[in-house]
Amino acid sequence: MSQATQADFFQGHPYIEEVNALEKRHTDRRDFHKAVEPVLVKMGRDKAFLSKVIERNFTDEGWLNFDWSDYNIPFFYVHETDDYILKIHLFPAGGADTQHYAAHAIHHHNNYILTTYAFFGSGYESMLFDKDVTVDERSLKSSMRVNKHFHQKDWNPSRVDSWEPHIVFLPESLSATFLMWSPDVKRKTDALRNNRLLKPFKKELRHLIYRLGMGDKLGIAREKTYQFYVDSGTVQAISEEDYFSKSRSANGPKEKEYAMQMIFSFLQRSGIGSAIQLAPLIENTERPDYFKTWFDRYLKGEEIPEVLHRYKLNIPNDSYTKQDIIHACS
Ligand SMILES: [Fe+2]
Repeated sequence: MSQATQADFFQGHPYIEEVNALEKRHTDRRDFHKAVEPVLVKMGRDKAFLSKVIERNFTDEGWLNFDWSDYNIPFFYVHETDDYILKIHLFPAGGADTQHYAAHAIHHHNNYILTTYAFFGSGYESMLFDKDVTVDERSLKSSMRVNKHFHQKDWNPSRVDSWEPHIVFLPESLSATFLMWSPDVKRKTDALRNNRLLKPFKKELRHLIYRLGMGDKLGIAREKTYQFYVDSGTVQAISEEDYFSKSRSANGPKEKEYAMQMIFSFLQRSGIGSAIQLAPLIENTERPDYFKTWFDRYLKGEEIPEVLHRYKLNIPNDSYTKQDIIHACS
């Protein structure tokens, strides 16, 4: 049987059935997220389940041939429906004394709510900002207010609301989160988003959706999405397109190596999916060399050091810190 994708790998799994039942029961998406928290905790703590997650990805041509770039946080797919997406994200640790450095720009996730359970490593420190951001369209100088400043170890699972700007700081040690995304409201267009035939046209589709009348709800300005950073004591906006184009185009062999090193470093440190269990998966189907090389080192028990792929965040002043934010937002 072809293993093109493993999208149905967890179909019918008791945890997934539980999430599906909660989605049906809670029409309000914020209630759904609250209700799903204990299930995320169960999944994140269940080593046998996490091991199946690794197996799902290591047999998934889509994941194996993923075009890793600076834009992507190394991740594992778990399960995706029209209503929600379950994934694992990995966060690299900063070097000594860099925990106060921003891991990326201040951003929001459009109309998606995110619930995150930190299940491995130190977890990260984070800030949520007031949704009401003022941007001067000419100078791009912006005004933001910090609403909540927390560490994952004190709020776990934690939540980021739709349109809510937030920032993550580099964690003390390599960390992993089990997360669920979902649109904040169930919309007729949700099924289109997941339609495999339409996927190649996703970007065009997004613009089409805006024109088809979601604009009334989201506001026409939403089509232009900003990210934010701090420079010389002020919050500065940068269009998402400008911010991401550079990191998306950084997708060469170096970035692939980085993603694989993170993934196998995580497997080694977490003890999820023992080498003995995973070993047969290196044999079948065509695999990219960078995958096989790191997999082989992992199977041989070589120590795989942690790696931080970027200190520079694709912004004019390279990076900014917690103190810079507090100062600029006060
Ligand atoms: Fe985010």
